[in-house]
Amino acid sequence: MLDLCSGLGGASEAMVQDEDWLVVRVDSDPQGILEPDWPRYTVHECVKNLSNNFIKSYGLIGVSPVQDITLLWASPPCRDFSRGYHAPGPTALRAGESFEPDMSILEACIDLKEHWEPKFWCIENVIGAIPYFEPYLGPPTQIIGPFVLWHNLPTIAVDYSFTHFKADSDVWSTNPVRSNLRAKLPIEISTAVMKAAMSPTLEDFS
Ligand SMILES: C[S@@+](CC[C@H](N)C(=O)[O-])C[C@H]1O[C@@H](n2cnc3c(N)ncnc32)[C@H](O)[C@@H]1O
Repeated sequence: MLDLCSGLGGASEAMVQDEDWLVVRVDSDPQGILEPDWPRYTVHECVKNLSNNFIKSYGLIGVSPVQDITLLWASPPCRDFSRGYHAPGPTALRAGESFEPDMSILEACIDLKEHWEPKFWCIENVIGAIPYFEPYLGPPTQIIGPFVLWHNLPTIAVDYSFTHFKADSDVWSTNPVRSNLRAKLPIEISTAVMKAAMSPTLEDFS
């Protein structure tokens, strides 16, 4: 699994715990959230280095990464798309100013998906991202709680009793990883994504 914009690693947590999976996390991570010995890359740098050297540098993927990637996940930062009071979009609106979100991270993730042709892919964001992502990806495939997903996986089935509120993960605004904690995918979704990616598809029988 390639976990792009991996943050605190919530999306790939179940796969990291499963010995059948190898996970490469990519995050520009200015605050050292990831393991300190993992190189930090922006997705833009990955696009510039499409020879896949950065993946090989982890020693996890062999000579044919295009065929080896079961799942590409991407969680571009949601700040520019958030409808929260202090987010840049609503703040600009109140001030009568215009605001254009940075689409370059989504564009880089799509470039990587198209280049590496993973078997499955999933791009995740917030409700406010829908009008901005739709021109690239069409309408969302699934919405699970506050998480909006565009993907080609079989249905991601979380238990009917599952609930999740980003506010539950909230901490003081002075906490440097506050936005990462709020954005972290819960293990229930990571596990459901892993199961969806492991379930046989019609292509497996052809
Ligand atoms: C929404 S959070 C990811 C949450 C994550 N999926 C989880 O479950 O913990 C977005 C992450 O994107 C990272 N990021 C921001 N710009 C980036 C870039 N250009 N390339 C790669 N990562 C970037 C941030 O450092 C942040 O950790």
